[in-house]
Amino acid sequence: MKFNNSKSKEFFKKCLQKIRLRYLAHKDIKRFSKSAALSIYDATFDQLSSRIMYNVHAIEKGLSREHHFRKGFGRKALSTLNDCLLIYEEQNYSKDMFAYKQGRSIILRYIDKHKAMNEDTSFLSEIIVPAFLQEDSQFKFAGVKTVFLDDKKNNKNKNFYELSQNRASVRDFSGEAVDSKLVLSAIKNALKTPSVCNRQGWKVYLTENKTLIKDILYFQKGFNGYPKLPEILLTVCVSNSSFLSPVERNEAFVDGGLLSMSIIYGLEYEGLACVTLNAMMDSKSEKQIRKIVEIDSSEQVILFIAIGQFKDKVTVPVSDRKSLEDVVKII
Ligand SMILES: Cc1cc2nc3c(=O)[nH]c(=O)nc-3n(C[C@H](O)[C@H](O)[C@H](O)COP(=O)(O)O)c2cc1C
Repeated sequence: MKFNNSKSKEFFKKCLQKIRLRYLAHKDIKRFSKSAALSIYDATFDQLSSRIMYNVHAIEKGLSREHHFRKGFGRKALSTLNDCLLIYEEQNYSKDMFAYKQGRSIILRYIDKHKAMNEDTSFLSEIIVPAFLQEDSQFKFAGVKTVFLDDKKNNKNKNFYELSQNRASVRDFSGEAVDSKLVLSAIKNALKTPSVCNRQGWKVYLTENKTLIKDILYFQKGFNGYPKLPEILLTVCVSNSSFLSPVERNEAFVDGGLLSMSIIYGLEYEGLACVTLNAMMDSKSEKQIRKIVEIDSSEQVILFIAIGQFKDKVTVPVSDRKSLEDVVKII
């Protein structure tokens, strides 16, 4: 049998591709290390805005806790937020922008919640400048909202925009069983997701075993302190064996991200509650999770999706969104 591509030529090509991969990966690292907000004194508008949003989200999550609400929680997030807002002002960035307004607002929501519980907030003056503690009607954003089970019962009759606009991450589940057929149905629909050259290198691991879920979440570290475990946990992976060239080195994250969003919309359609959980783990934790889920070393872990049933009503972070004008630049 004569092959059209000779082994020796392919071997030479592979060596060149490996050199190219190193070069491109090095460029990735350089671009990331130059632009990422690695310190609060990395003070471009985008860097500061992102760090503000990170801390706003941490405080929103704390405010949304119905069980074990920790009065006076989040001092680290609040003190970092204070510093970011001060640096933002020092840099003379507009106070009319999304992140600044979110940052100023969440401090006031934090005070509102503690006042409503008759809790002392005097400790805030040690970590936050007086101006940020003053009530100000401009800063009416951020905080928490309530999601009702009754609103989810009609999900199958909603149009796509209604469905997507009403979706919210839910971390506090009812503890009732989830029919895995509904989850499989959401995954089946998601298989229509586009992928690069239709390679569909994804794999979804579905776990119902509570002991395994508990162990995975222990190492994942992004789902702490909620009273009920998810009923089902998905681990979304994409195999690097699907990719043919160094320029595809990050494609697993793109295809896996797209698939995941389709699954999430499918779960919303089925009336199930869920939250995406990151796979940004240190190598030790990742190794443990790979062992528990039996993930092949060729596969990239993209993220997890924790699934449960909605409680009659549940408090969740508002997670406000930027405006269209903030995001779209027409060229
Ligand atoms: C890739 C990814 C990773 C996430 N990781 C976590 C996580 O580890 N823990 C968590 O509570 N939420 C996590 N989230 C949920 C986000 O916090 C949430 O989607 C965001 O705040 C927007 O809120 P919404 O989903 O309610 O619209 C993650 C979301 C994404 C997309």
